[in-house]
Amino acid sequence: MPILQEILVEQLKDLLHAEGQLVKALPKMARAANDPKLKEAFRKHLEETKNHVERLKQVFELLGEKAKGKPCRGMQGLVEEGQETIEEGREKPNFAADLALVVAAQKVEHYEIAGYGSVRTIAEQLDQKKVARLLAQTLAEEEKTDKLLTKLSSPLLEEASQPEEVEQV
Ligand SMILES: [Fe+2]
Ligand SMILES: [Fe+2]
Repeated sequence: MPILQEILVEQLKDLLHAEGQLVKALPKMARAANDPKLKEAFRKHLEETKNHVERLKQVFELLGEKAKGKPCRGMQGLVEEGQETIEEGREKPNFAADLALVVAAQKVEHYEIAGYGSVRTIAEQLDQKKVARLLAQTLAEEEKTDKLLTKLSSPLLEEASQPEEVEQV
């Protein structure tokens, strides 16, 4: 196998494992979120994430490779941090717990954006147009999710800036 395709397949295995972990982690994030809009955003992204797994499987098929994950330690670390954030959030006021969840979730999205951006570029270089298109679709959804999280954090930040709210804690 040409070295560039080898790199692509390795990275896709990493992403498949990462997405699989998120399918398990996102329901916990949704349960932990207090703000209904944030909850809804996590639920929606869970459905998208399931589709990311399916798209990756399609990509493996197009490349004639077995869809097999390879332990993604980067995502394991981020998911563990997310779990910690959920636990610590129980002791925090709702808006503060939600803000911390947004931070954890945006770290995950940025990790995915980096991963998908890279594999998309490699697929383009290999002239794997269908593969590149599928990966670009997922990339766009990760970017959209990241932007939505930024938007949802703005009222929470405002609430966090109110001195009287902070003093009550
Ligand atoms: Fe994803
Ligand atoms: Fe994502």
